[in-house]
Amino acid sequence: MHSSPSLPYLGFGLGLRVDHYEALLDQPGNVQWLEIVSENYLVPGGRPLRWLERFRERFPLVMHGVSLSIGGTDPLDEHYLTQLDALARRVEPAWISDHLCWTGVQGVNLHDLMPLPYTEEALAHVVQRVRRVQDRLGRRILLENVSSYIRFADSQLTEWEFLAAVAEQADCLILLDINNVHVSAHNHGFSAEAYLAGIPVERVQQFHLAGHEQGGALLVDTHDAPIVDSVWALYVAAVRRFGRVSTMIERDDHIPPLAELRAELDQARALAMPWLKEAA
Ligand SMILES: [Fe+2]
Repeated sequence: MHSSPSLPYLGFGLGLRVDHYEALLDQPGNVQWLEIVSENYLVPGGRPLRWLERFRERFPLVMHGVSLSIGGTDPLDEHYLTQLDALARRVEPAWISDHLCWTGVQGVNLHDLMPLPYTEEALAHVVQRVRRVQDRLGRRILLENVSSYIRFADSQLTEWEFLAAVAEQADCLILLDINNVHVSAHNHGFSAEAYLAGIPVERVQQFHLAGHEQGGALLVDTHDAPIVDSVWALYVAAVRRFGRVSTMIERDDHIPPLAELRAELDQARALAMPWLKEAA
């Protein structure tokens, strides 16, 4: 159990991308906080960390990783955890997150976020690894739901039951990606609203919003397009259930001018406003 004080509410933020470095430092505007991809800043020294120092002076930062492979069967990567811990000491992020997934096996990195079989065995495996990571980093971490296109025949639990059970049993927090819920609900034919209803309110610390693409019958989580209306609608449903939660827009490809993302942030804020006032 980690007795970390409750984490702060940060408001509305963006994923930090190189294309926006200058513009954001020039004028933070409506961007209240930034999420950095941890892997971009693990090497000590050099330009990336010099940039990061400048952002750290002006914005609250959170660290978001893609390499933990918390569901993997290889041992946890101690070297990576040491690097992550060193970066956290430098950045002093409000929190650290990664994904509820596995990314490789027997040392081979698939460079993708693969879904887990939602079984009791996988649950026990993930829970003990989350506990180890939290002990190593001295803080609770957030785990994000990934989008998926396949599922395992062995699964006994729904994705949301699995995610909720991991959070409760490992005492970790949840980064709920609203777009990923929408994409997976469409691809697997479950109800996105049932998903939200199955997630414990007090565990959700952050939302991701993003765009996706239609690839034939499947929705593909590309993070390269504006947020679509159905995801905005699900965001409203999420705010209604979870209340005031730090919200961030993620764009990984086809990075648009900052003004476009600022407009999406304003839209998110406007949609969430009734619940922000209530919490104030
Ligand atoms: Fe995400």
